[in-house]
Amino acid sequence: MKYHALIPAAGGGSRMGGGTPKQYLPLAGRPLIWHTLKTLTHVMAIEHVHVVLSPDDPLWDAHDWSVFSGRLSVLRCGGATRAESVIQGLRALRSGVADDDWILVHDAARCCLTATHVMKLINEIGDDPVGGLLAVPVADTLKRVQADGRVAGTVPREGLWQAQTPQMFHYRMLLDALQRVPEVTDEASAIEASGFQPKLVAADATNLKVTWPLDLQLAEWILANRRQ
Ligand code: C5P
Repeated sequence: MKYHALIPAAGGGSRMGGGTPKQYLPLAGRPLIWHTLKTLTHVMAIEHVHVVLSPDDPLWDAHDWSVFSGRLSVLRCGGATRAESVIQGLRALRSGVADDDWILVHDAARCCLTATHVMKLINEIGDDPVGGLLAVPVADTLKRVQADGRVAGTVPREGLWQAQTPQMFHYRMLLDALQRVPEVTDEASAIEASGFQPKLVAADATNLKVTWPLDLQLAEWILANRRQ
Protein backbone atom coordinates (compact mmCIF):
# COMPACT_ATOMS: atom_id res chain seq x y z
CA MET A 1 0.00 0.00 0.00
CA LYS A 2 1.40 3.36 -1.03
CA TYR A 3 0.71 6.88 0.25
CA HIS A 4 -0.19 9.73 -2.10
CA ALA A 5 -0.95 13.35 -1.22
CA LEU A 6 -3.74 15.20 -2.99
CA ILE A 7 -3.94 18.96 -2.44
CA PRO A 8 -7.11 20.76 -3.51
CA ALA A 9 -5.98 24.27 -4.51
CA ALA A 10 -8.71 25.42 -6.85
CA GLY A 11 -10.47 27.79 -4.47
CA GLY A 12 -10.90 31.51 -4.88
CA GLY A 13 -10.39 32.36 -1.18
CA SER A 14 -13.10 35.05 -1.13
CA ARG A 15 -13.04 35.34 2.70
CA MET A 16 -9.52 36.77 2.47
CA GLY A 17 -10.79 39.92 0.74
CA GLY A 18 -8.55 40.91 -2.25
CA GLY A 19 -8.47 39.28 -5.67
CA THR A 20 -5.56 36.84 -5.35
CA PRO A 21 -6.63 33.29 -4.42
CA LYS A 22 -5.20 32.60 -0.98
CA GLN A 23 -2.92 29.78 -2.14
CA TYR A 24 -0.86 32.39 -4.00
CA LEU A 25 -0.74 35.10 -1.33
CA PRO A 26 2.83 36.03 -0.40
CA LEU A 27 3.98 34.32 2.79
CA ALA A 28 7.59 34.46 4.01
CA GLY A 29 8.79 35.35 0.52
CA ARG A 30 6.94 32.55 -1.32
CA PRO A 31 3.40 31.85 -2.48
CA LEU A 32 1.46 30.37 0.47
CA ILE A 33 1.04 26.93 -1.15
CA TRP A 34 4.84 26.66 -1.58
CA HIS A 35 5.15 26.00 2.16
CA THR A 36 2.45 23.31 2.03
CA LEU A 37 4.20 21.63 -0.88
CA LYS A 38 7.59 21.85 0.80
CA THR A 39 6.38 19.85 3.79
CA LEU A 40 4.50 17.19 1.83
CA THR A 41 7.25 16.66 -0.78
CA HIS A 42 9.79 16.21 2.05
CA VAL A 43 7.86 13.32 3.65
CA MET A 44 9.54 10.32 2.06
CA ALA A 45 6.72 7.96 3.08
CA ILE A 46 4.60 9.83 0.52
CA GLU A 47 5.09 8.44 -2.96
CA HIS A 48 3.99 11.56 -4.84
CA VAL A 49 2.22 14.87 -4.30
CA HIS A 50 -0.61 15.93 -6.63
CA VAL A 51 -2.00 19.45 -6.61
CA VAL A 52 -5.47 20.16 -8.05
CA LEU A 53 -5.80 23.56 -9.73
CA SER A 54 -8.69 25.28 -11.40
CA PRO A 55 -8.55 24.55 -15.18
CA ASP A 56 -8.20 28.28 -15.87
CA ASP A 57 -5.69 29.06 -13.09
CA PRO A 58 -3.47 31.85 -14.49
CA LEU A 59 -1.10 32.11 -11.51
CA TRP A 60 0.59 28.71 -11.13
CA ASP A 61 2.90 29.22 -14.12
CA ALA A 62 4.03 32.61 -12.82
CA HIS A 63 6.05 30.90 -10.06
CA ASP A 64 9.05 28.58 -10.00
CA TRP A 65 8.23 25.12 -8.64
CA SER A 66 11.35 23.38 -9.98
CA VAL A 67 12.63 22.60 -6.48
CA PHE A 68 9.78 20.06 -6.17
CA SER A 69 10.28 18.44 -9.58
CA GLY A 70 9.97 14.68 -9.60
CA ARG A 71 7.87 14.78 -6.41
CA LEU A 72 4.98 16.96 -7.62
CA SER A 73 2.37 16.79 -10.39
CA VAL A 74 -0.24 19.36 -11.36
CA LEU A 75 -3.82 18.37 -12.20
CA ARG A 76 -5.82 21.17 -13.81
CA CYS A 77 -9.21 19.68 -13.06
CA GLY A 78 -10.57 21.57 -10.03
CA GLY A 79 -14.32 22.01 -9.62
CA ALA A 80 -16.81 24.48 -8.17
CA THR A 81 -16.46 23.16 -4.58
CA ARG A 82 -13.64 21.66 -2.55
CA ALA A 83 -15.27 18.21 -2.70
CA GLU A 84 -15.64 18.46 -6.49
CA SER A 85 -11.97 19.38 -6.79
CA VAL A 86 -11.04 16.34 -4.69
CA ILE A 87 -13.34 14.04 -6.70
CA GLN A 88 -11.88 15.26 -10.01
CA GLY A 89 -8.36 14.90 -8.64
CA LEU A 90 -9.04 11.34 -7.48
CA ARG A 91 -10.48 10.42 -10.89
CA ALA A 92 -7.38 11.84 -12.58
CA LEU A 93 -5.15 9.65 -10.37
CA ARG A 94 -7.01 6.46 -11.29
CA SER A 95 -4.37 4.84 -13.52
CA GLY A 96 -1.53 5.45 -11.08
CA VAL A 97 -2.98 4.22 -7.77
CA ALA A 98 -4.34 0.97 -6.31
CA ASP A 99 -7.80 0.81 -4.73
CA ASP A 100 -6.33 0.31 -1.26
CA ASP A 101 -3.56 2.90 -1.55
CA TRP A 102 -3.81 5.66 1.05
CA ILE A 103 -4.72 9.15 -0.15
CA LEU A 104 -3.83 12.05 2.17
CA VAL A 105 -6.07 14.97 1.19
CA HIS A 106 -4.64 18.23 2.49
CA ASP A 107 -5.89 21.81 2.12
CA ALA A 108 -3.41 24.00 0.23
CA ALA A 109 -4.30 26.71 2.74
CA ARG A 110 -2.92 24.72 5.74
CA CYS A 111 0.59 25.92 5.04
CA CYS A 112 2.06 25.39 8.52
CA LEU A 113 1.72 21.61 8.39
CA THR A 114 4.89 19.83 9.54
CA ALA A 115 6.37 16.47 8.59
CA THR A 116 5.86 15.51 12.25
CA HIS A 117 2.10 16.09 11.89
CA VAL A 118 2.04 13.95 8.74
CA MET A 119 4.04 11.09 10.25
CA LYS A 120 1.88 11.12 13.40
CA LEU A 121 -1.19 10.68 11.21
CA ILE A 122 0.39 7.91 9.14
CA ASN A 123 1.72 6.07 12.19
CA GLU A 124 -1.44 6.33 14.30
CA ILE A 125 -3.72 5.26 11.45
CA GLY A 126 -1.37 2.34 10.74
CA ASP A 127 -3.38 -0.38 9.04
CA ASP A 128 -6.74 0.89 10.33
CA PRO A 129 -9.46 -0.36 7.95
CA VAL A 130 -11.21 3.04 7.80
CA GLY A 131 -8.56 5.77 8.05
CA GLY A 132 -8.74 9.10 9.82
CA LEU A 133 -7.76 12.72 10.13
CA LEU A 134 -5.80 15.24 12.13
CA ALA A 135 -7.98 17.20 14.56
CA VAL A 136 -7.85 19.27 17.75
CA PRO A 137 -10.21 19.23 20.75
CA VAL A 138 -12.45 22.32 20.92
CA ALA A 139 -11.19 24.67 23.64
CA ASP A 140 -13.87 27.39 23.58
CA THR A 141 -17.51 27.28 24.58
CA LEU A 142 -19.58 27.28 21.37
CA LYS A 143 -22.61 29.51 20.68
CA ARG A 144 -25.19 29.05 17.97
CA VAL A 145 -26.18 32.46 16.57
CA GLN A 146 -29.53 33.60 15.22
CA ALA A 147 -30.25 36.15 12.47
CA ASP A 148 -30.26 39.20 14.80
CA GLY A 149 -26.81 38.36 16.19
CA ARG A 150 -28.12 37.07 19.52
CA VAL A 151 -27.33 33.69 21.02
CA ALA A 152 -29.83 31.00 20.08
CA GLY A 153 -28.15 28.37 22.23
CA THR A 154 -24.94 26.96 23.67
CA VAL A 155 -23.44 23.83 22.18
CA PRO A 156 -21.67 21.75 24.85
CA ARG A 157 -18.02 21.49 23.78
CA GLU A 158 -17.45 18.21 25.56
CA GLY A 159 -16.41 15.58 23.04
CA LEU A 160 -16.15 18.08 20.17
CA TRP A 161 -13.07 18.24 17.95
CA GLN A 162 -12.19 20.56 15.06
CA ALA A 163 -11.35 18.63 11.90
CA GLN A 164 -8.11 19.53 10.13
CA THR A 165 -6.24 17.98 7.24
CA PRO A 166 -4.56 15.79 6.08
CA GLN A 167 -7.46 13.37 6.03
CA MET A 168 -6.28 9.89 5.07
CA PHE A 169 -8.47 7.24 3.47
CA HIS A 170 -8.17 4.38 0.99
CA TYR A 171 -8.50 5.51 -2.62
CA ARG A 172 -11.58 3.51 -3.66
CA MET A 173 -13.45 3.94 -0.37
CA LEU A 174 -12.86 7.70 -0.52
CA LEU A 175 -13.85 8.19 -4.14
CA ASP A 176 -17.02 6.08 -3.74
CA ALA A 177 -17.97 7.97 -0.55
CA LEU A 178 -17.45 11.44 -2.04
CA GLN A 179 -19.34 10.59 -5.22
CA ARG A 180 -22.32 9.56 -3.06
CA VAL A 181 -22.43 12.83 -1.03
CA PRO A 182 -20.53 15.52 -2.98
CA GLU A 183 -22.02 18.30 -0.81
CA VAL A 184 -19.70 17.59 2.16
CA THR A 185 -16.98 20.01 3.30
CA ASP A 186 -14.42 17.36 4.21
CA GLU A 187 -13.52 13.78 3.30
CA ALA A 188 -14.30 12.36 6.74
CA SER A 189 -17.94 13.50 6.45
CA ALA A 190 -18.32 11.49 3.28
CA ILE A 191 -16.77 8.41 4.90
CA GLU A 192 -19.11 8.87 7.90
CA ALA A 193 -22.12 9.10 5.55
CA SER A 194 -21.04 5.71 4.19
CA GLY A 195 -21.40 4.28 7.71
CA PHE A 196 -17.76 4.26 8.83
CA GLN A 197 -16.09 5.94 11.81
CA PRO A 198 -12.81 7.70 10.93
CA LYS A 199 -10.15 7.86 13.65
CA LEU A 200 -9.18 11.24 15.12
CA VAL A 201 -5.46 11.88 15.51
CA ALA A 202 -4.55 14.80 17.78
CA ALA A 203 -2.65 17.62 16.08
CA ASP A 204 -2.30 21.22 17.29
CA ALA A 205 -3.47 24.73 16.52
CA THR A 206 -0.40 25.56 14.40
CA ASN A 207 -1.92 23.48 11.60
CA LEU A 208 -4.33 26.33 10.94
CA LYS A 209 -6.19 26.93 7.68
CA VAL A 210 -5.51 30.42 6.34
CA THR A 211 -9.05 31.75 5.91
CA TRP A 212 -9.17 35.33 7.23
CA PRO A 213 -6.56 38.10 6.72
CA LEU A 214 -5.24 37.75 10.30
CA ASP A 215 -4.49 34.06 9.66
CA LEU A 216 -1.80 35.08 7.19
CA GLN A 217 0.03 36.98 9.92
CA LEU A 218 -0.32 34.06 12.32
CA ALA A 219 1.05 31.68 9.67
CA GLU A 220 3.98 34.02 9.03
CA TRP A 221 4.75 34.08 12.75
CA ILE A 222 4.55 30.30 13.06
CA LEU A 223 6.88 29.71 10.10
CA ALA A 224 9.35 32.38 11.25
CA ASN A 225 9.54 31.01 14.80
CA ARG A 226 10.08 27.46 13.57
CA ARG A 227 13.05 28.52 11.48
CA GLN A 228 14.93 29.95 14.47
O1 C5P B 1 -12.33 27.66 1.04
P1 C5P B 1 -11.72 26.65 1.96
O2 C5P B 1 -10.76 27.27 2.93
O3 C5P B 1 -12.67 25.71 2.60
O4 C5P B 1 -10.81 25.75 0.98
C1 C5P B 1 -10.08 24.66 1.47
C2 C5P B 1 -9.18 24.14 0.36
O5 C5P B 1 -9.98 23.66 -0.73
C3 C5P B 1 -8.26 25.23 -0.23
O6 C5P B 1 -6.97 24.68 -0.39
C4 C5P B 1 -8.93 25.57 -1.53
O7 C5P B 1 -8.03 26.01 -2.55
C5 C5P B 1 -9.56 24.25 -1.94
N1 C5P B 1 -10.71 24.39 -2.86
C6 C5P B 1 -10.68 23.76 -4.10
N2 C5P B 1 -11.73 23.93 -4.97
C7 C5P B 1 -12.77 24.72 -4.66
C8 C5P B 1 -12.84 25.36 -3.40
C9 C5P B 1 -11.78 25.17 -2.50
O8 C5P B 1 -9.73 23.04 -4.39
N3 C5P B 1 -13.73 24.90 -5.56
